[in-house]
Amino acid sequence: MTRFILTLSIILLSLKGFSQHKAYAIIPQPNESRLEQGYFQFEDKLSVAYNSDQLKASAEYFKAVLKSYSEKKIQVKTGGSYPGIYLELDDEVNNHDETYQIRISSKEIKVQASSPHGIFNGLQSVLQLLLFSPQDNDLSKIHKGTIKDEPRYAWRGLMLDESRHFFGKEKVKQLLDYMALHKLNRFHWHLTDSPGWRIEIKQYPKLGKVGGIGNHSDSEAKAQYYSQKEIAEIVAYAKERYIEVIPEIDMPGHASAANRAYPEFSGGGSEKYPDFTFNPGKEEVYQYLTNILQEVKDLFPAKYIHLGGDEVHFGNHQWKDDKAIQALMKNKQLDNLKAVEEYFIRRMADSLKTMNRQVIGWDEVVEAGLDPENSLVMWWRHDKPQLLTSAVQKGYKVVMCPRLPMYFDFIQDERQHYGRTWDGFCDVESVYHFPKGIKEADSNLVAGIQACVWTENIQNNQRLDYMLFPRLSAMAEAAWCNQNKKSYTSFKERLPLMVKMYQKDEIYYYDVFNPENHQEPKGLVKR
Ligand code: ACM
Repeated sequence: MTRFILTLSIILLSLKGFSQHKAYAIIPQPNESRLEQGYFQFEDKLSVAYNSDQLKASAEYFKAVLKSYSEKKIQVKTGGSYPGIYLELDDEVNNHDETYQIRISSKEIKVQASSPHGIFNGLQSVLQLLLFSPQDNDLSKIHKGTIKDEPRYAWRGLMLDESRHFFGKEKVKQLLDYMALHKLNRFHWHLTDSPGWRIEIKQYPKLGKVGGIGNHSDSEAKAQYYSQKEIAEIVAYAKERYIEVIPEIDMPGHASAANRAYPEFSGGGSEKYPDFTFNPGKEEVYQYLTNILQEVKDLFPAKYIHLGGDEVHFGNHQWKDDKAIQALMKNKQLDNLKAVEEYFIRRMADSLKTMNRQVIGWDEVVEAGLDPENSLVMWWRHDKPQLLTSAVQKGYKVVMCPRLPMYFDFIQDERQHYGRTWDGFCDVESVYHFPKGIKEADSNLVAGIQACVWTENIQNNQRLDYMLFPRLSAMAEAAWCNQNKKSYTSFKERLPLMVKMYQKDEIYYYDVFNPENHQEPKGLVKR
């Protein structure tokens, strides 16, 4: 009897220990996982094998990342014997491009998917299992069990503004690495705006050489822009990580940098925003911008090009007096300046269509009469929810990136002195819960969500890190996990494991557990 009670107690105790690990520690949390008794165990050697050459690049990527982060000196060999990881492309598994499943037995971690992208996603989970095993003090043990996972949203994006401040390719590559680890798959690159034009255009070299001069801190800073070779390098780097790069060439507003280089295409501006617009009244402007977009299209294979279309009213005052624009209004029976703006964006969308590309616009374009089949709208004005509703009603695909809580240049708590604010903070928890409560969130037309980092007040890498991390981790979970699977408590339990990676990479993150820990790096303007 005593022996029976003793045995029972041991079983109960071990079950208690087991039940503490309800799920694998992965960010974003897989949508379905089941842990079983027992472990996959390894010493310091692992093999990675696969059943298709299409997986070779991902296997090599996995090996390199594991090696660079692992505290143990793990040797990872391709092929070979157990214990190991087996990657299996299998049409039978599922038919969604990003879905994957993992089966962890005592001898093997098997990742299965019907596409290489699914396998890549699975490998990001395996990486975190190996690096953040729930047996924190024994990184060579991973619970047996299964994971079946697919994303809530197809579009899981991050936008970086490199016009206001330029961060350069090494920082961009680091962001792409972190995007991959978090299963984020769209990098929206805001490459042109008023302070600087950041992409080489061979037919118009002054765009980079003259338009690239200056930034938001210093209007005379030496020209900084990406050469086409560097762009191609970054697009390829992103592709290896299953990330699509979507360039934004903002028009007809936010064009001052371009207009410094080629003033003949300027439509003027306002006192505060000089030369803010291209001129929609001049036919040659459409050819000029189409020529630019031809080069852009050749650099970026993504099906979308973002044409901006935002905030034109900031600087279209001179349109009222511009002869060419007045003539256009008369010819095309355009009643007001908003109609001119919409005419312009339709023409440029038509140009993109001839290049086999679709247009993205900020939510100003909702009323412009673009073809819903060939357009996507980014909803950014959180204080105008009717624009989201209207975009969906008109049949547009939508990405939701409302300022609150998805603009990461906004401050995250009351201690912060620099950065934008509105009623409320873009704190980590609000980011995490997004898009709870938004009624369109489950519409088939909502492609996904995106965080946007505008950089007027972010002038160096340290401040960029502080504004991005860990909100990026919270946002990734918001984009990936079904609403009913999300738990902020669980996220906070897993986050310290990700923070270890930030620390290894010397990322100057905001410490959500103890905000006093890392001082806020100075921005340019106090709030
Ligand atoms: C925007 O924030 N102007 C899209």
